[in-house]
Amino acid sequence: MKVSGKIALVTGAAQGLGKAFAAALLENGAKVLICDVNSETGEATLKTFQEKYGENNVMFVRADVTSQAQMEAVFHQVRERFGGLDIMSNNAGIVGEASDVWEKTVDVNLKGVIRGTNLALDLMRQDKGGRGGVIINTASIAGVMPVRGFEVYTATKHGIVGFTRSWAENPLCLDNGVRMNALCPSMADTTLVPRDAADFVKYYENHGLMSPEYVAEGFMDLIQDDSKNGAVLKMMQKVGKVYMEY
Ligand SMILES: NC(=O)c1ccc[n+]([C@@H]2O[C@H](COP(=O)([O-])OP(=O)(O)OC[C@H]3O[C@@H](n4cnc5c(N)ncnc54)[C@H](O)[C@@H]3O)[C@@H](O)[C@H]2O)c1
Repeated sequence: MKVSGKIALVTGAAQGLGKAFAAALLENGAKVLICDVNSETGEATLKTFQEKYGENNVMFVRADVTSQAQMEAVFHQVRERFGGLDIMSNNAGIVGEASDVWEKTVDVNLKGVIRGTNLALDLMRQDKGGRGGVIINTASIAGVMPVRGFEVYTATKHGIVGFTRSWAENPLCLDNGVRMNALCPSMADTTLVPRDAADFVKYYENHGLMSPEYVAEGFMDLIQDDSKNGAVLKMMQKVGKVYMEY
């Protein structure tokens, strides 16, 4: 897909990988709605983007991906203000394994991606008046391998990979011009990465931390390469980009 002139929506885009994805899309001439639950950081990112890419090419909407009503309002805004949707990035995610937070991890990471995908499909489907499009779901390397100590996180990310690959084979997508891919980065330099857990410190000392901008290159490949549907792209600092073979 040629990104210039397209309309995109990125969740969890106030900071980290989502912010880098939004910047890459804006850099390539898309209009972008950035959505995040954190309004303070979201507004600050909006201001930076507006100064660099033009006031009318980006907007911020505060919303929680766990809320159906709030997400419906986000999709309403992208349709009303930008005129449709071509690129969806279901990216918001958290880490939380403890007994009082694990369900929230499932709600944000897995149910949030399912919700965003359903709403995006509704807008993109050609049989419902859409233009087709591409949906990129941010999974993780934890979507394709076990990660000790992060069992719930790993379960959500495996779920995203299976969900994305299954939709990609569904005629409802294939016949309506919608592609769907999963992005599986290893550790990237964002606040999500625990800086204190011994296993993690050892891992990134050995394997390195990717910059969000580098991860955004893989994200853009999955959008721009029309041959990629149901693709699962692993990204690792020392190995680079590797498409999973199933
Ligand atoms: N950083 C890594 O090493 C890494 C590796 C693989 C996958 N990922 C995945 O990348 C995605 C982005 O993570 P990141 O590293 O940029 O983390 P981050 O914490 O820097 O950014 C995540 C963003 O999501 C937002 N968010 C959290 N819960 C939300 C909700 N309920 N609704 C809307 N927005 C919400 C946060 O406010 C934040 O702005 C996540 O899905 C994460 O699992 C990250």
